[in-house]
Amino acid sequence: MGLIIAIDGPAASGKGTLARRLADTYRLNHLDTGLTYRAVAHRMLIHGLPLDNQSAAETAARQIDLGALDRTVLSAHEIGEAASKVAVMPRVRAALVEAQRRFANQPPGAVLDGRDIGTVVCPDADLKLYVTASPQERAHRRYTEIIANGGTADEAAILADIERRDARDMGRADSPLRPAADAHLLDTTTMDIEAAFRAARDLVDQAIAARSAD
Ligand code: C5P
Repeated sequence: MGLIIAIDGPAASGKGTLARRLADTYRLNHLDTGLTYRAVAHRMLIHGLPLDNQSAAETAARQIDLGALDRTVLSAHEIGEAASKVAVMPRVRAALVEAQRRFANQPPGAVLDGRDIGTVVCPDADLKLYVTASPQERAHRRYTEIIANGGTADEAAILADIERRDARDMGRADSPLRPAADAHLLDTTTMDIEAAFRAARDLVDQAIAARSAD
């Protein structure tokens, strides 16, 4: 079985950047599982279906093609909001979790990032990280990123969005966002990406050493 790294955390915590860099460094497959919920929401939106139509959402989830997730299209803000609404449906989650587990079990191993990877999707992962930062810091990072890309944004509105999404993701009944009991917490509020990456890499190296000692 290949190495599996589970990374969870709230929106804009930096978990996606960390996941991508770890996957590159250790030559593992990478899946941003948020894109799978976004793809289901996108399908509902383009077909004009109400987001609470459970059977249509489940069908979209069962038909998902993990090889065809288009980050550019799916990263739109409204799709993220819609994704957190379809993500409360247990049948949608069950279908997506099945596809995510199949992905995780393919050689040479994988880094998966999301909200329930350490708790539900890959409870036996070799390493679990829970990446977080204060809501204010996450809002500020997202604001800076939009401005750097030539856009305009309202930092207070971004913070309100982040807090609403956190409440929905942490408060839902099925697979709420929370650290697994055996997750390593990485609070990046006062850390830059390089420091966070070094801390994560040390933990991965320890996990690899523990596997070879077994
Ligand atoms: O991470 P991202 O913003 O792309 O995720 C969009 C939404 O998908 C999240 O707000 C969350 O509701 C849902 N999600 C989830 N479980 C995951 C990944 C994402 O419920 N493993």
